[in-house]
Amino acid sequence: MGNRTKLLLPLYVLIFHSLSFETYGSIKMDTHTMYPGQSLSGNQTISSSNGRFELGFFKPGNSTAYYVGIWYKNISAETVVWVANRDKPLLDPSGSKLELTRKGSLVLYNQSEIPVWSSSNTMDGSIVAVLEDCGNLVLRNGSTSSPSVVVWESFDHPTDTWLPGARLGGSKMSKKGQRQRYVSWSSSDDPSPGPFSLGLEMDGTGTYHVLKNGHRHWTCGMWLERISSFSTEIVDRNYTNMTYVSNEEETYYKYSVTDTSVLVRYKMDVSGKVQKLVWKDDSQIWESIWEKPKEDCEIYGFCGANGACNQFGLHHCKCLGGFEPKIPGEWNTGNYTNGCRRRSQLQCNEDGKHSFQMIPNIRLPANEVSLTNVKSLKECKSACLRDCSCIAYTIGYYGNCSVWREDLLNIQYLSYGDILRKDLYIRLPKADLAASRAKTRIRIERFTISAAAATVILIAILILLVSTRRMSSSSDAKPADDVLVLFKFGDLRSATKNFSEKLGEGGFGSVFKGTLPNSTAIAVKSLKCQDQEDKQFRTEVSTLGTIHHVNLVRLLGFCLKGMKRFLVYDYMPNGSLDSHLFYKDSKILDWKTRHHIAKGVARGLAYLHENCRLCIIHCDIKPENILLDADYNPLLSDFGLAKLFGRDFSRVLTSMKGTRGYLAPEMISGEPITPKSDVFSYGMLLLEIISGRRNWEARDNENDNYFPARAAICVSNGGDVLSLLDPKLHGDANAKEVIRACRVACWCIQDEEQHRPSMGQVVQILEGVQEINRPPIVGNASEYYQSYIPHWLGK
Ligand SMILES: *[C@@H]1O[C@H](CO)[C@@H](O)[C@H](O)[C@H]1NC(C)=O
Ligand SMILES: *[C@@H]1O[C@H](CO)[C@@H](O)[C@H](O)[C@H]1NC(C)=O
Ligand SMILES: *[C@@H]1O[C@H](CO)[C@@H](O)[C@H](O)[C@H]1NC(C)=O
Ligand SMILES: *[C@@H]1O[C@H](CO)[C@@H](O)[C@H](O)[C@H]1NC(C)=O
Ligand SMILES: *[C@@H]1O[C@H](CO)[C@@H](O)[C@H](O)[C@H]1NC(C)=O
Ligand SMILES: *[C@@H]1O[C@H](CO)[C@@H](O)[C@H](O)[C@H]1NC(C)=O
Ligand SMILES: *[C@@H]1O[C@H](CO)[C@@H](O)[C@H](O)[C@H]1NC(C)=O
Ligand SMILES: *[C@@H]1O[C@H](CO)[C@@H](O)[C@H](O)[C@H]1NC(C)=O
Ligand SMILES: *[C@@H]1O[C@H](CO)[C@@H](O)[C@H](O)[C@H]1NC(C)=O
Repeated sequence: MGNRTKLLLPLYVLIFHSLSFETYGSIKMDTHTMYPGQSLSGNQTISSSNGRFELGFFKPGNSTAYYVGIWYKNISAETVVWVANRDKPLLDPSGSKLELTRKGSLVLYNQSEIPVWSSSNTMDGSIVAVLEDCGNLVLRNGSTSSPSVVVWESFDHPTDTWLPGARLGGSKMSKKGQRQRYVSWSSSDDPSPGPFSLGLEMDGTGTYHVLKNGHRHWTCGMWLERISSFSTEIVDRNYTNMTYVSNEEETYYKYSVTDTSVLVRYKMDVSGKVQKLVWKDDSQIWESIWEKPKEDCEIYGFCGANGACNQFGLHHCKCLGGFEPKIPGEWNTGNYTNGCRRRSQLQCNEDGKHSFQMIPNIRLPANEVSLTNVKSLKECKSACLRDCSCIAYTIGYYGNCSVWREDLLNIQYLSYGDILRKDLYIRLPKADLAASRAKTRIRIERFTISAAAATVILIAILILLVSTRRMSSSSDAKPADDVLVLFKFGDLRSATKNFSEKLGEGGFGSVFKGTLPNSTAIAVKSLKCQDQEDKQFRTEVSTLGTIHHVNLVRLLGFCLKGMKRFLVYDYMPNGSLDSHLFYKDSKILDWKTRHHIAKGVARGLAYLHENCRLCIIHCDIKPENILLDADYNPLLSDFGLAKLFGRDFSRVLTSMKGTRGYLAPEMISGEPITPKSDVFSYGMLLLEIISGRRNWEARDNENDNYFPARAAICVSNGGDVLSLLDPKLHGDANAKEVIRACRVACWCIQDEEQHRPSMGQVVQILEGVQEINRPPIVGNASEYYQSYIPHWLGK
């Protein structure tokens, strides 16, 4: 495209000049409209009126074939955003032509004058083809000034590029209407449809996916890959405003660019990644500022059958013990598609010749079969042994026995902080078992030695860091991004004036205020003693140190002193939410601030849950753990403690006064905890934000004292929701927002986990981009009311 002239042929000028052509002087004759009977051929083009896009023939990269397409006109990099004849290449553009027929459709003829592509829709009357400023090629019956009907548009038939203003998704009726998917090119030289496509699930959850040859390519987390929505990704706010629309007829994402001087686009790349690209004028390149899947291990089945993925390994894939690469040559070059096979076959009916090997800390493979009546590991093992085709078993994420009968796919080694980590037991012949045990032992020894060395080095670096920081300047003791400071105990003691100013106390320890020598205010959490090894503590803490979100309190560093452990956080001047909601002498938070707080907390939680890499469940959502900065922005604290405390956590939690009121029923009954448990607690919190009182606080003269029950009935029956509002606000609130908040809160506190929304959905509902119905009412109102009162309240 670089050497294509923007001048049109003299002949073309002659023919078209009479037809409302824009002429500038006598040379420049760009236009953005084609009229019936007109055609483009060779190096002729039309452009959008703002000069941003151009339509014509092009030759991609090193290819020898030509295509008709739309590209950015005014940038140095060849960037095609739409292709008409994706899989019908042309040999020679000068013999081919793109014609707007008198019947009103665009037809592309090859050199033999055979039509190879055409726009489908036609409509009688005089149709024009216009390349609009947004890059959309539109066929309509008349110019923009008069009312006109669009009969066809390239935005409805996209290729691999999703431009601002175009949709992802579309009509829910598959027969009527359009649905937009974005399909990658086959290669950078070949625009024919490639294996990868970006699409939207039509179920209204906002889930989008990448498929490879029609099969799942990208997995994200356990809760069924239905958790990622563009609008909850903070990074996506960069340059664009994404909106999600879901109603009875249609479901789609659409975005606009916040600064129209910046070029932004999404692309389903040939690599299988969805990328958000921004044109950088100074460096003259498209910079990818967001992409999914980001890591190899996020790709579904990346390591093939019986392989396991390790994102931090030198090689990302390893065969499971007892397995070897199916095609070693390929495997060693980094092509893992063929996976691994058994070293020796399993023979059934060979009692005593098999056993199981445990693989710890992995994401469980796909395609499990759940045996819902088996709950213990022992029974699960014997169930697997009895079944000749069973090759692996474990207790799965939902507490049931899971067995596998097909190749093991999509296993990933996980780090300690990861909520998805589980142990899997794989059936192996005894001979292979012994061999693989010996090997593991060697590996473990080596690992231990190098880990020890690494720890020494790490400590040295951290100490160096802290001391050089202190030496070089006292004005900058804040850690750089992602680097946690290892504080000396003495420094913390002097920063907190010997732990004299206590900010709060909870089940996991006390918090003290402190000031660093550079006058940065800090909060120091002294954790109650726990019997965890230093090394493990460090691993967990360093995971927490990588978490950054505007609604999460930032961890600055930590300190180890004998058995004592301290976490150092940013100090939040406005304290915790409970002091503002429940105490008389504090400033009354207006509705706007409360709504802002509710949304922020939801975003922070959504980030913890839905961030593919970490998937952290908070487990202890309550007003005491919502801190407010100087501008009343909410920041969640105490996330990740569940991992730090391990098994003790739920014991402490359930015995802690002032926490039980927020716990989901499954947490109290000791069932496995999922992100939906946080959703429950969030619902309880939201009700308190609305009412300005503790949910369980008894009131005189009210026989329906338990506020959540009262709220649930009111909301379900369509009662006066504003009556639930904190009386201190005197009804001064946005009624729509209050109704939404009440509804979403009542959905969050449903007994059944699957009825509760995800935090991502909560965010969307509170932001008003997703609708929400009244929650269901089960049985009659008084039964319902009873069912809402937790039994442990002792009513
Ligand atoms: C455009 O096409 C015409 C005719 O095919 C040719 O003479 C002219 O050199 C072309 N311009 C460029 C810059 O390739
Ligand atoms: C084309 O690019 C140049 C330099 O990047 C810029 O100054 C000019 O305004 C652009 N023109 C249009 C029509 O976008
Ligand atoms: C064209 O081929 C050359 C040499 O094979 C290569 O370096 C270059 O990157 C290719 N260009 C494109 C756009 O693929
Ligand atoms: C034009 O297209 C027809 C049908 O696809 C094909 O048979 C013919 O060979 C093409 N002609 C040229 C010159 O590419
Ligand atoms: C286009 O078609 C619509 C519906 O048939 C009609 O209302 C409108 O006036 C037409 N516009 C032009 C410019 O012909
Ligand atoms: C936008 O992205 C760039 C590059 O990733 C980053 O430097 C910048 O801080 C981001 N801006 C916002 C507002 O997030
Ligand atoms: C984002 O777009 C929506 C709908 O187009 C609009 O209502 C909203 O104000 C926009 N937000 C921003 C920050 O531009
Ligand atoms: C990997 O191997 C498979 C099957 O042997 C093959 O189809 C595929 O093209 C290879 N992939 C790469 C990137 O070489
Ligand atoms: C686990 O088992 C119970 C019955 O004991 C069943 O209701 C539930 O659906 C099962 N969960 C999964 C994920 O299979």
